[in-house]
Amino acid sequence: MSFNIAVDGPAGAGKSTIAKRVAAALSFHYVDTGAMYRAIALYLIRSGIPPEDTEAIGNACRDIPISIGYSGQEQQVFLNGENVTGELRAEKVGNMASIVSANPMVREALLSLQRRLAREQDVIMDGRDIGTNILPEAQLKIFLTASTEKRADRRYRELLEKGEPADFEKIRRDIEERDNRDRNRKTAPLRQAPDAVLVDTTDMDIDQVTERILELYRERAVR
Ligand code: DC
Repeated sequence: MSFNIAVDGPAGAGKSTIAKRVAAALSFHYVDTGAMYRAIALYLIRSGIPPEDTEAIGNACRDIPISIGYSGQEQQVFLNGENVTGELRAEKVGNMASIVSANPMVREALLSLQRRLAREQDVIMDGRDIGTNILPEAQLKIFLTASTEKRADRRYRELLEKGEPADFEKIRRDIEERDNRDRNRKTAPLRQAPDAVLVDTTDMDIDQVTERILELYRERAVR
């Protein structure tokens, strides 16, 4: 049986950075479910389908050709066979993903893909509803969070490092809006699962958070 680690939490808590580190340490696959929602968002943007056109989104979801591959440890997302991984982190795509991920048809379209990946291999999977909805039987569940200020500051620095324009106040507002949408939507809202371990990364660095999760893994991994 595969070992599954579920990591949920708000935008900018450090989920993907930490999950990648843990995956490398344990030789697990890292499954970034946000990238799948982003791929659907990119598809809708490219097709000119607006987020409020639920009927067109429902139709599109019936046959959105998304697939996942790996280049070493790095997850690659393919849309119609085209590797779109490099385009998924744009703010525009993230905001669209946050809006359309509230649509039950969009979530349904990704559910079986996510469950299949976790059934077939040891994974650390991050997202918003992994511990509560996608992998309720995961052997280890983490709820990763940090203060809004700190999360905005991390995004801001990340953009500056990449040489991209960054406006701290705008980033903070976007994060707040995204949190609100993710927490208050009807379908699969962001929630801490009752059996998830809360890890607040506000005052922790990447090494400390990684070590904390590896420690929790070792406590549970009696195989
Ligand atoms: O983690 P991220 O920023 O790449 O996610 C982009 C958006 O996708 C986020 O605002 C919420 C949504 N999402 C979701 O609803 N469920 C998931 N399991 C992962 C992401």
